Amino acid sequence: MQKIAVLTSGGDAPGMNAAIRAVVRAGLYHRMEVYGIERGFAGLSSESKMKPFSLGSVAGIIHRGGTILHTARAPEFKEKAVQEKAVRYLREAGIEGLVVIGGGGSFRGAHALQDLGIKTVGIPATIDQDIPGTDRSIGFDTAVNTILDAINRLRDTATSHERIFIVEVMGRKSGFIALAAGIAGGAEAIIVPEIEPDLDQICRRLLEGIDRKKTHSLILVAEGAASAYAIGETVHQKTGLETRVTVLGHVQRGGTPSAVDRLLGSRMGAAAVELLRRDSSGMMTALRDDEITAVSLVESFTGEKVFPKNLYELSLVLAR
Ligand code: F6P
Repeated sequence: MQKIAVLTSGGDAPGMNAAIRAVVRAGLYHRMEVYGIERGFAGLSSESKMKPFSLGSVAGIIHRGGTILHTARAPEFKEKAVQEKAVRYLREAGIEGLVVIGGGGSFRGAHALQDLGIKTVGIPATIDQDIPGTDRSIGFDTAVNTILDAINRLRDTATSHERIFIVEVMGRKSGFIALAAGIAGGAEAIIVPEIEPDLDQICRRLLEGIDRKKTHSLILVAEGAASAYAIGETVHQKTGLETRVTVLGHVQRGGTPSAVDRLLGSRMGAAAVELLRRDSSGMMTALRDDEITAVSLVESFTGEKVFPKNLYELSLVLAR
């Protein structure tokens, strides 16, 4: 394979740049030509320009959040006619292999291209960490650390005023972010879409904490489970305690990537090039037991991502 291209798709995730850099540097190392496609699948059309990468063009990006290739949500890419247009565009440009860096939705598009004859490999990148087939996705670690930084700040003001803080974090359909940040941040309660919350029990525990002279409490809510405002109101009604709500929003998606995400992006970027070189397309790079491996792209959107109930139970033991 002589000519490959890379794009980022869906929500950006810190560490995507490390993955782009690794695809480019590994590709050039193997004497391939590597091209960058801007704005994800939306950039796969004749009006777009494909940029050739050089070694130097990915210098100074490993520490930057976001994606230098820009990204887009492209719902129109579900349409066969749009996919076929993209295939024509890639063929005309002489692209023999494509690396798609993104989340589960992006891999449906990647798989469609593979089916239409474009050799495609995926790299899992989403702060949600909800992609089946891999233990980790790029961006999760940084997002959790960003939330911890916010929690530390909120604790200062929560303690000063003796208030209950409800913090809403991202996780459109999953509670991986809330669970990890909740345990690492010492939250008093964690509300996730995977488990029905027992609000009476949560409120009882908050009151018991106050009895033990606790000066503040923190409840972490995944956006996919409930609105933090609704939880704040319910807690206030049931306990009479003063509550405040913080919705962290897109702050969680930005910022300099952690060492973990830079390393993961670097390893997966190089592994994606290796898969294309070995003609193993239709695959997604994956981390399993700390080893980089590959699973079928299909698994990334049809498989089941198991929620770690044991970790959730641990949070119930520790949150007192
Ligand atoms: O998929 C990552 C994610 O950050 C989700 O946690 C969140 O629900 C969604 O993207 C937000 O999407 P957008 O940036 O398109 O508003």
